[in-house]
Amino acid sequence: MTHISWYKQMDLAYPPLDDEHRAFMAVVNQAQECAEKEDFMKFDELFESCYEYARTHFPHEEDLMERMGFPDLEAHAQSHQQFIENISELRKAYSQAKTPEEYRYITKKTAHFLSSWFLGHLLGRDRVYKPYLVRLRNLPPRMDYDK
Ligand SMILES: [Fe+2]
Ligand SMILES: [Fe+2]
Repeated sequence: MTHISWYKQMDLAYPPLDDEHRAFMAVVNQAQECAEKEDFMKFDELFESCYEYARTHFPHEEDLMERMGFPDLEAHAQSHQQFIENISELRKAYSQAKTPEEYRYITKKTAHFLSSWFLGHLLGRDRVYKPYLVRLRNLPPRMDYDK
Protein backbone atom coordinates (compact mmCIF):
# COMPACT_ATOMS: atom_id res chain seq x y z
CA MET A 1 0.00 0.00 0.00
CA THR A 2 1.28 3.43 -0.86
CA HIS A 3 0.80 6.83 0.66
CA ILE A 4 -2.63 8.30 -0.14
CA SER A 5 -2.82 11.85 -1.44
CA TRP A 6 -5.91 14.00 -1.57
CA TYR A 7 -7.40 14.32 -5.02
CA LYS A 8 -10.43 15.98 -6.47
CA GLN A 9 -12.91 13.11 -6.40
CA MET A 10 -12.46 12.92 -2.63
CA ASP A 11 -13.76 16.43 -2.19
CA LEU A 12 -17.39 16.79 -1.14
CA ALA A 13 -17.17 20.59 -1.44
CA TYR A 14 -18.38 20.81 2.15
CA PRO A 15 -15.46 21.92 4.33
CA PRO A 16 -16.61 20.57 7.73
CA LEU A 17 -16.71 17.01 6.33
CA ASP A 18 -13.75 17.43 3.99
CA ASP A 19 -11.62 18.55 6.94
CA GLU A 20 -12.58 15.45 8.92
CA HIS A 21 -11.83 13.20 5.95
CA ARG A 22 -8.44 14.85 5.45
CA ALA A 23 -7.57 14.46 9.12
CA PHE A 24 -8.47 10.79 8.97
CA MET A 25 -6.45 10.35 5.79
CA ALA A 26 -3.43 11.54 7.80
CA VAL A 27 -4.13 8.82 10.39
CA VAL A 28 -4.39 6.21 7.62
CA ASN A 29 -1.07 7.32 6.15
CA GLN A 30 0.54 7.34 9.55
CA ALA A 31 -0.59 3.76 10.12
CA GLN A 32 1.04 2.83 6.84
CA GLU A 33 4.31 4.53 7.78
CA CYS A 34 4.38 3.04 11.28
CA ALA A 35 3.71 -0.46 9.95
CA GLU A 36 6.58 -0.05 7.49
CA LYS A 37 8.96 1.38 10.09
CA GLU A 38 7.84 -1.30 12.53
CA ASP A 39 6.86 1.31 15.07
CA PHE A 40 4.41 -1.14 16.62
CA MET A 41 3.69 0.76 19.83
CA LYS A 42 2.32 3.74 17.94
CA PHE A 43 -0.70 1.64 17.02
CA ASP A 44 -2.16 2.13 20.50
CA GLU A 45 -2.64 5.78 19.63
CA LEU A 46 -3.69 5.05 16.05
CA PHE A 47 -6.51 2.74 17.20
CA GLU A 48 -7.64 5.51 19.55
CA SER A 49 -7.70 7.94 16.61
CA CYS A 50 -9.90 5.50 14.68
CA TYR A 51 -12.38 5.39 17.55
CA GLU A 52 -12.25 9.15 17.83
CA TYR A 53 -13.09 9.38 14.13
CA ALA A 54 -15.99 6.97 14.63
CA ARG A 55 -17.25 8.93 17.65
CA THR A 56 -17.17 12.31 15.95
CA HIS A 57 -17.28 11.97 12.18
CA PHE A 58 -19.85 9.17 11.84
CA PRO A 59 -22.61 10.88 13.88
CA HIS A 60 -21.80 14.16 12.15
CA GLU A 61 -22.27 12.57 8.75
CA GLU A 62 -25.36 10.57 9.77
CA ASP A 63 -26.99 13.66 11.25
CA LEU A 64 -26.42 15.60 8.03
CA MET A 65 -27.72 12.71 5.90
CA GLU A 66 -30.88 12.65 7.98
CA ARG A 67 -31.36 16.39 7.69
CA MET A 68 -30.95 16.41 3.93
CA GLY A 69 -33.22 13.42 3.44
CA PHE A 70 -30.58 11.08 2.04
CA PRO A 71 -32.46 7.84 1.23
CA ASP A 72 -29.64 5.37 1.84
CA LEU A 73 -28.86 6.46 5.40
CA GLU A 74 -29.49 3.08 6.98
CA ALA A 75 -27.07 1.12 4.80
CA HIS A 76 -24.50 3.89 5.16
CA ALA A 77 -24.80 3.86 8.95
CA GLN A 78 -24.39 0.07 8.86
CA SER A 79 -21.16 0.49 6.96
CA HIS A 80 -19.95 2.84 9.72
CA GLN A 81 -20.93 0.23 12.29
CA GLN A 82 -19.03 -2.42 10.38
CA PHE A 83 -15.91 -0.25 10.50
CA ILE A 84 -16.15 -0.06 14.30
CA GLU A 85 -16.47 -3.84 14.49
CA ASN A 86 -13.50 -4.39 12.19
CA ILE A 87 -11.35 -1.98 14.17
CA SER A 88 -12.34 -3.63 17.43
CA GLU A 89 -11.31 -7.04 16.10
CA LEU A 90 -8.00 -5.68 14.86
CA ARG A 91 -7.30 -3.94 18.14
CA LYS A 92 -8.10 -7.10 20.05
CA ALA A 93 -5.59 -9.05 17.95
CA TYR A 94 -3.06 -6.23 18.42
CA SER A 95 -3.50 -6.32 22.19
CA GLN A 96 -2.87 -10.08 22.15
CA ALA A 97 0.30 -9.86 20.03
CA LYS A 98 3.50 -10.92 21.80
CA THR A 99 6.20 -11.65 19.28
CA PRO A 100 7.62 -9.23 16.67
CA GLU A 101 6.15 -11.48 13.95
CA GLU A 102 2.68 -11.14 15.45
CA TYR A 103 3.06 -7.38 15.75
CA ARG A 104 4.34 -7.14 12.20
CA TYR A 105 1.42 -9.17 10.90
CA ILE A 106 -1.34 -7.31 12.77
CA THR A 107 0.03 -3.80 12.17
CA LYS A 108 0.39 -4.49 8.43
CA LYS A 109 -3.10 -5.96 8.34
CA THR A 110 -4.50 -2.90 10.16
CA ALA A 111 -2.71 -0.44 7.87
CA HIS A 112 -3.96 -2.30 4.83
CA PHE A 113 -7.52 -2.37 6.15
CA LEU A 114 -7.46 1.37 6.92
CA SER A 115 -6.16 2.33 3.47
CA SER A 116 -8.64 0.23 1.57
CA TRP A 117 -11.54 1.17 3.85
CA PHE A 118 -10.76 4.88 3.63
CA LEU A 119 -10.65 4.88 -0.17
CA GLY A 120 -13.53 2.46 -0.64
CA HIS A 121 -15.86 4.22 1.79
CA LEU A 122 -15.07 7.78 0.77
CA LEU A 123 -15.22 7.15 -2.97
CA GLY A 124 -17.85 4.41 -2.91
CA ARG A 125 -20.24 5.63 -0.21
CA ASP A 126 -19.60 9.17 1.05
CA ARG A 127 -19.44 10.49 -2.48
CA VAL A 128 -22.99 9.21 -3.13
CA TYR A 129 -24.55 11.75 -0.76
CA LYS A 130 -22.56 14.66 -2.21
CA PRO A 131 -25.39 15.85 -4.51
CA TYR A 132 -27.68 16.06 -1.47
CA LEU A 133 -25.40 18.50 0.36
CA VAL A 134 -26.81 21.43 -1.59
CA ARG A 135 -30.05 20.88 0.34
CA LEU A 136 -28.32 22.00 3.51
CA ARG A 137 -28.26 25.55 2.17
CA ASN A 138 -32.04 25.62 2.26
CA LEU A 139 -32.34 24.37 5.81
CA PRO A 140 -32.64 26.78 8.72
CA PRO A 141 -29.69 26.79 11.12
CA ARG A 142 -30.02 24.23 13.85
CA MET A 143 -31.09 25.70 17.18
CA ASP A 144 -29.46 24.73 20.48
CA TYR A 145 -32.58 23.04 21.78
CA ASP A 146 -32.65 20.94 18.65
CA LYS A 147 -29.40 19.07 19.43
FE1 LIG B 1 -19.49 7.64 5.75
FE1 LIG C 1 -17.09 10.10 5.83
